[in-house]
Amino acid sequence: MKIAIFPGDGIGPEVIAEAKRVLEALSLPQLSLFEGDVGGIAYRRHGMPLPQETLEMARAADAALFGAVGDPACDELPREHRPEQAILSLRSELGLFANLRPAAGYPGLEDMSSLKPEVARGIDLLVVRELNGDVYFGEKGERAGEGGREGWDAMSYNETEVRRIAHIGFQAAQKRRKRLTSVDKANVLETSRIWRETVIEVAREYPDVQLDHMYVDNAAMQMVRSPGQFDVILTGNLFGDILSDQASACVGSIGLLASASLGERRTEFGTFGLYEPIHGSAPDIAGEGKANPVAAILSLAMLLRHSLGRESDAGRIERAVAQVVASDVRGADLGGTASTGEIGDAVLGALAAVS
Ligand code: NAI
Ligand code: MG
Repeated sequence: MKIAIFPGDGIGPEVIAEAKRVLEALSLPQLSLFEGDVGGIAYRRHGMPLPQETLEMARAADAALFGAVGDPACDELPREHRPEQAILSLRSELGLFANLRPAAGYPGLEDMSSLKPEVARGIDLLVVRELNGDVYFGEKGERAGEGGREGWDAMSYNETEVRRIAHIGFQAAQKRRKRLTSVDKANVLETSRIWRETVIEVAREYPDVQLDHMYVDNAAMQMVRSPGQFDVILTGNLFGDILSDQASACVGSIGLLASASLGERRTEFGTFGLYEPIHGSAPDIAGEGKANPVAAILSLAMLLRHSLGRESDAGRIERAVAQVVASDVRGADLGGTASTGEIGDAVLGALAAVS
């Protein structure tokens, strides 16, 4: 089993160090770890945010674990040299079209949510966001218009793109509570009409999953009104970008949420994927030992589940994390004083005790 590790910038290396300790504690057989540079650190060492060597390392691995990129010292660089380009290029070069972002409330943490505790308690959802298409990848440009300079971005989805992400969504729902909400704007957008018709067609292959459709504006409202109604939310790149950030805010802290980006490449043990906390490099707290490593540790759990076929190890990590999050070992993001290493210690301690 080969895992490529890309710690990146800011708090990336700090949180990845804790995830690595957890990985080592599992003592997996025949595990090889490779470490590569991405982001600002890669720019400084190699003159580019995603060196070819790093990309090749990801291609040769069964899974990749990513910290975060973003370095204020690089803010003035042209777009192609900025650290954030590394993650965008990795996703497109590796064909990672499915972004999975689970968001679940933790008992004892409701007070940290921006929602009322009784509303926050019910959150247990998974956003399945398409990552390689939509308005982000359509033609775009600037033209002179009657109202002055005019920017335009083309939004499109074809049936093939919708079908492959829909299958991921339905299969995820089958493993959860068997409910899928497809989010679109089919009352106005042609893209969404094709999206909805294709999702309905794919749904025939999953008769055990209950499908419903929601317009994105209503979905945004429902997410803060009663998030407990959602199981799997299947949506496109743009709507998914917005709704997944919104879902994470409902839980409590950005330091708790993990993500997986999957493509079509199969490995010996599962599907190749890139796993990362949803947070960025947090330059405001970098180097201070204040970062919560839970999101990185949960990203490792997703890696074990989806790319290495090690469901039982993934479950153990998640149970250990849940214990720690419910305990009084809390980082600054959750109103506590525990350091990155102390939270890591607590997870390791809990891991030894859970089966
Ligand atoms: P951010 O997620 O880095 O930080 C937002 C706020 O949350 C900050 O106050 C930070 O201290 C806090 N925070 C984030 N992660 C935390 C953790 N694990 N524990 C405790 N507190 C945590 O987002 P921001 O500030 O918008 O961006 C900072 C840099 O990161 C930028 O350069 C941005 O482009 C980059 N970025 C990179 C991402 C990636 O690598 N995938 C994703 C988002 C942003
Ligand atoms: Mg976003």
